[in-house]
Amino acid sequence: MDKQKEYDRFFEESNTGTLDGYCNVDFIDLYEKAILKLETKTKRLVDVGCGSGNRLFDFYNRAGIEYYGVEKSINFINGSKHKDKISQLDLTNPQYFSRFNEIMHNLNFLNYDTISLFGGVINGFIDKNQRDIGWKNIEKMLRNDTYLILHSLGDRRWYCSGNIGKCLKLVNDDVFPNQYLYSRNELCNIFKQHNMKILNEYNLDLPAATLKHSFFVIRKSS
Ligand SMILES: C[S@@+](CC[C@H](N)C(=O)[O-])C[C@H]1O[C@@H](n2cnc3c(N)ncnc32)[C@H](O)[C@@H]1O
Repeated sequence: MDKQKEYDRFFEESNTGTLDGYCNVDFIDLYEKAILKLETKTKRLVDVGCGSGNRLFDFYNRAGIEYYGVEKSINFINGSKHKDKISQLDLTNPQYFSRFNEIMHNLNFLNYDTISLFGGVINGFIDKNQRDIGWKNIEKMLRNDTYLILHSLGDRRWYCSGNIGKCLKLVNDDVFPNQYLYSRNELCNIFKQHNMKILNEYNLDLPAATLKHSFFVIRKSS
């Protein structure tokens, strides 16, 4: 099956409990907390690809961050205890940005100060055309006064040396889909192409696995 369809079907057809398990719902990375609290000092956050919100929304409440989530999978939203704080939107849809603006306007939330894509949302852009649309939509959401926090999943066998990424399954399980694991060079080219400059970058290698987590704090380049 087409790898993009396989990814989309996984999120549309698995139950929220199973998906939350794969998203490590009981775990918030220290970098996520530190960036939001100490670096971007976020007060109004749009969490793009928020999933069920079960992993991070309670933390946002405790940290005094106002937030709203958008998520592609209606299945994930319907199974969430936070569904009143999430709208269904697909970043890889060409109409995404006008719909996003309309929703933020209606919520009186257009003055968001940070956009986050945590948990490897960009690794779900598998199809090349969809990936291009997704990055264009991310660029459109970013204003001069807005921070963008990106969390990218990578594979350290090619993250630093490769020119482009590869599709790979991160969990050895028949139903688990492939994700697109970028190389750093490719991400930097994408950032340049979309007028984004890196303010800070944090990398985390877990022992005994090839998985690499990279967090980027980004601003619009002038
Ligand atoms: C691994 S989950 C992470 C969920 C949440 N951000 C977290 O960190 O706990 C990846 C999420 O990205 C969402 N996603 C992937 N592609 C997307 C797209 N094109 N538009 C919106 N959400 C998307 C998936 O549906 C899924 O909920």
